[in-house]
Amino acid sequence: MATYDVIVIGSGPGGYVCAIRCAQLGLKTACVEGRDTLGGTCLNIGCIPSKALLHATEQLHESQTNFSKMGLMGEAPSVDWEKMLAYKDDVVAQNTKGIEFLFKKNKIDWIKGWASIPAKGQVKVGDETHEAKSIVIASGSEPTALPGIEVDEERIVTSTGALALKKISQSLAVIGAGVIGLELGSVYARLGAKVTVLEYLDHITPGMDPEVQKQFQKILAKQGLTFVLGAAVQSVDTGGDTSTVSYKLRKNDSEQTLEAETVLVSTGRRPFTAGLGTEELGIAMTERGQIKVGNHWQTNVDGIYAIGDCIEGPMLAHKAEDEGMAVAEVLAGQHGHVNYEVIPSVIYTHPEVAMVGLTEEQLKKAGRDYKVGKFSFMGNGRAKANFAADGFVKILADKQTDRILGAHVIGPMAGDLIHEVCVAMEFGAAAEDLARTCHAHPTYSEAMREAALACGDGPIHA
Ligand code: NAI
Repeated sequence: MATYDVIVIGSGPGGYVCAIRCAQLGLKTACVEGRDTLGGTCLNIGCIPSKALLHATEQLHESQTNFSKMGLMGEAPSVDWEKMLAYKDDVVAQNTKGIEFLFKKNKIDWIKGWASIPAKGQVKVGDETHEAKSIVIASGSEPTALPGIEVDEERIVTSTGALALKKISQSLAVIGAGVIGLELGSVYARLGAKVTVLEYLDHITPGMDPEVQKQFQKILAKQGLTFVLGAAVQSVDTGGDTSTVSYKLRKNDSEQTLEAETVLVSTGRRPFTAGLGTEELGIAMTERGQIKVGNHWQTNVDGIYAIGDCIEGPMLAHKAEDEGMAVAEVLAGQHGHVNYEVIPSVIYTHPEVAMVGLTEEQLKKAGRDYKVGKFSFMGNGRAKANFAADGFVKILADKQTDRILGAHVIGPMAGDLIHEVCVAMEFGAAAEDLARTCHAHPTYSEAMREAALACGDGPIHA
């Protein structure tokens, strides 16, 4: 048995970042992880492998669509699926080993196995019980099951199975037009699959700016994805050569079916807290199965904290990371803080979609007086040169004070561009501050400045 200042349960972006920061701040730290590799869902079966497949297939798409326009002639490359998967696995391995290295460097003990908390200050892994002054639960999330649909990770898959299909499916039915469905739907559409997305709501990507949603859907449709909106999926029958997805069209209650070789269930994720012993310990949970935390991510049980996907808030790796750093600072007697108003959200399709802050809908609901500065990538020279002019930047600012309240971007590198506004918002900047900042030419970021200019006297290139 070993005694620690902190034991972190889970080594995803929340847990491993927390452990590293704890160690950096002088706390004797261990991290419990039951998987064979560190990094949690994000590094092993989420963000990182999906980005590898998105990158590879984007290159393929570029070679098929734009190479000849630039005078790069010859046949587009063919796909060696096994090699593509090996490349993805290698990227994952580099990242997970990187965390192992960082643990060693920071003298963090990796306790291998699945943890439970038998009592305050104790973490049990296998037959061993370890003691800690503080315990941080960072146990993450798992895909939500849909009633009547049994995932086998071969024919009916979650993101986990979709990242490791034995062969490229000819047809893919995607249930849910959220982040996972659209990212992985894009991957397989680029690989030649007939992709049909069934979405319960009347629009894709809930929570995003409606104008972005519409343009995004149009662009994806041009890339070959078919959308059926207002479709409540009810069951999947895997009895035949292909699977049959049954759904009800909400507008007229008509029963419909769709045949597909593979079905991707991407209807959200739920907190993963099984086996921790939260109930026995009396840790308070929300109705949605999240661990309830108060100030400083403290649960109702002394010395036990929780962060990331298993508590409330967006299920995003970077939100978990921020909470991980902040809770570590709290445990070290500092003042950890997360600004939940400025957490960006990105969809890594092509083009990318990104947002931060409030949407127009939220501003209207709150009765706020706001102005909109919009700029199309059509007016951006770099985007034009790179066949990336589809999309726009929209900056929302307070009508009186000009303070930036939110930004919505669909376009090239949107996931990187958005951080300009994140920093501006952290500093309480006005749109004019962005507009008066010199932006290098020619860059995509000039579109951010132009949108900021559009909040004032107007953009130059529109
Ligand atoms: P999501 O919550 O983003 O989208 C789920 C979609 O499924 C919603 O549009 C919902 O209306 C629809 N839906 C639910 N039940 C349905 C039914 N019976 N029939 C048809 N449609 C139905 O969930 P997703 O994409 O599974 O992602 C899970 C979590 O992982 C999210 O919190 C997301 O933020 C996170 N994630 C983030 C990524 C990123 O930041 N790029 C990448 C992948 C996941």
